[in-house]
Amino acid sequence: MTKAAQPRLAVLISGRGSNLQAIIDACASGELPAQIALVISNNPDAAGLQRAERAGIVAVCIDHREFGSREAFDEALVSELRAHAVDLVILAGFMRILTSVLIEPYLGRMLNIHPSLLPRYPGLNTHQRALDAGDSEAGATVHFVTEQLDGGPPVLQASVPILPRDTADSLADRVAVQEHAIYPLAARWLVQGRLVLEGQYATLDGTAIPSTGIPYTPALE
Ligand code: GRF
Repeated sequence: MTKAAQPRLAVLISGRGSNLQAIIDACASGELPAQIALVISNNPDAAGLQRAERAGIVAVCIDHREFGSREAFDEALVSELRAHAVDLVILAGFMRILTSVLIEPYLGRMLNIHPSLLPRYPGLNTHQRALDAGDSEAGATVHFVTEQLDGGPPVLQASVPILPRDTADSLADRVAVQEHAIYPLAARWLVQGRLVLEGQYATLDGTAIPSTGIPYTPALE
């Protein structure tokens, strides 16, 4: 497939951008047959903006603090996405609660990665909550974005064991390695048209995905 024919992605970030980097690398290697048309950060200080610039990708900051409502902010996002003819939206540590203004036009075309074994621990501080609960495992989940916060149908889930001396930071580091494996893979399925949102659940190659997502193994293609 030529570059021009490849689906156009937007990656939305708020911070470090390590998942953005994984998507950049996967596009560069051909593992993810897509082009990143645009990176948007709501945070002018996001380190991920520099990653985009280093890769020669258009990167813009749309600061949510300059808008009077969540809807007005989302309208600005949608108009930027449309201006760049974006096909698919990848939320990668984008720390904003979204409204239907953004979600509806990209329903079935927008993924998020959440650092927990959903449906456990939607919201913040997921690793500390897993430690406090005495869980034996933690992980990350790629899911479709719907109006339910961290509640859209899961696609792909990776687990790591919780070790006796783990802190929230050590656990986050180990989970991040898995995030960087599962996000490009799930994005590839979406780009290839193999991953589809069908109302309350997702399908891969026409087969319903379990409610906690496909368990990740490195053999998955
Ligand atoms: C990741 O842990 C992701 O699961 C969550 O936010 C974090 C983003 O990290 N949604 P990074 O900015 O991609 O490094």
